[in-house]
Amino acid sequence: MTPAQDPRLVRELADVVGADHVLVDDDVTAGYRTDWTGRFTSPSSVVARPGETAEVAAVVDLCRASGVALVAQGGNTGLVGGGIPTQGEVVLSLRRLAGAHEVDGASGQVVVGAGTTIGAVHALAAEAGWAYGVDLASRDSATVGGTIATNAGGLRVLRYGDTRAQVMGVETVLGDGHTVTALTGLYRNNTGYHLPSLLCGSEGTLGVVTAARLRLVPRLRHRVTALLAFDTIDAALAAAALLRRAVVGLEAVELFLQAGLELVCSAGSLPRPFPDPHVAYLLVETAGQIEDRGELAAALESVPGIADAAVATDPARGRALWRYRETHTEAIGTVGTPHKLDLALPLPQLAPFLDRLPSLLAELAAGAQAWVFGHVADGNLHVNVTGVAPDDESIDDAVFRLVAELGGSVSAEHGIGTAKRRWVGLSRTEAELDPFRAIKRALDPAGILNPHALLPPATP
Ligand code: MLT
Ligand code: ZN
Repeated sequence: MTPAQDPRLVRELADVVGADHVLVDDDVTAGYRTDWTGRFTSPSSVVARPGETAEVAAVVDLCRASGVALVAQGGNTGLVGGGIPTQGEVVLSLRRLAGAHEVDGASGQVVVGAGTTIGAVHALAAEAGWAYGVDLASRDSATVGGTIATNAGGLRVLRYGDTRAQVMGVETVLGDGHTVTALTGLYRNNTGYHLPSLLCGSEGTLGVVTAARLRLVPRLRHRVTALLAFDTIDAALAAAALLRRAVVGLEAVELFLQAGLELVCSAGSLPRPFPDPHVAYLLVETAGQIEDRGELAAALESVPGIADAAVATDPARGRALWRYRETHTEAIGTVGTPHKLDLALPLPQLAPFLDRLPSLLAELAAGAQAWVFGHVADGNLHVNVTGVAPDDESIDDAVFRLVAELGGSVSAEHGIGTAKRRWVGLSRTEAELDPFRAIKRALDPAGILNPHALLPPATP
């Protein structure tokens, strides 16, 4: 029995959230105990599903009083084992906190519950004539709370920034039990520390976000989507750099390679986009308020090395082109349980990294296959490695050391979770981690919030 399964705690949790919302049976909790990759899983746990902020606060109080840790969870689409109970913690599922206020049209903001999905935020915003700047393939499951916890990036960081850039205010239950409600949403407020920024990327280690006030962006009605093929990776990277400089309305520049394209075509029964195979592909999208394919077309004329191209101005064809990029994660899952190495590099280091990666992998595990794709205009690559055992971290280690050598980061948008804790020191110095630990102690003095994720123990 894990501490979370103590019958007294289970009874007390039921008194707070209602017996129907405390899940204890292994087959019912299974979906909360295994992460999206299938690589991180826990044998048993208890799931509490509060329906309002006061219930969240009461669950945090109960856990603190019982000395039992808890892991907050949204849509469970995380990829680094940060939202699952790896060591018998209580799972605090926020999915029932899915209410939303009306869009504040004057400010272009909306207050939503932490359990609202990103897809639902898009729908709410669109109904009111706005859009939400964060978008990602898991939009229909990923929740606002989870994307704040991981400071999710996604497909449109290039134009709108990451989640941190969208969060105007938060309501959160801190580890010490206090609820802080700061949802006013002033665009300018220079009165000290900025709690929303601190919570973005904190991975549920400081507080449990229960609601957020999100900034919306203008809804741009006209999109041009292009899939460009290149015969060298260098040509694709050079094109990404040129487009970034030349196209004002650029929203996305996504890279993938031939092996990934082959895989998504066979796994998803998609037609091949071009008659011949090529080495690398860029999926590019621009958006504007008036119909204008001229800006992208003119820029493409000046891009050297485009071997083939497909351009779409109608939404259905645009979505069809996106499928070649967006279905990578799903298709890779059909090959095996992947090691997901989400990393960031300074843009000039993308080419040297991609150049050195194949020989590094070949040296370490001949049977390993790397699927490389990602948000290349922001220097964010996803190196998904299949063909290695889930607990064999030799490739992860070698790749992250190369990333550090090139001045990059071991996490660009997925977070650290439990998967990457041992490598945080490659991207953060002890002088940075010490204040992080002090903040953790101040806001979660009993250390009950997601204690096995993100921060590595201090080196003695
Ligand atoms: C994506 O951009 O599709 C995901 O963040 C990448 C992944 O599944 O590794
Ligand atoms: Zn991504």
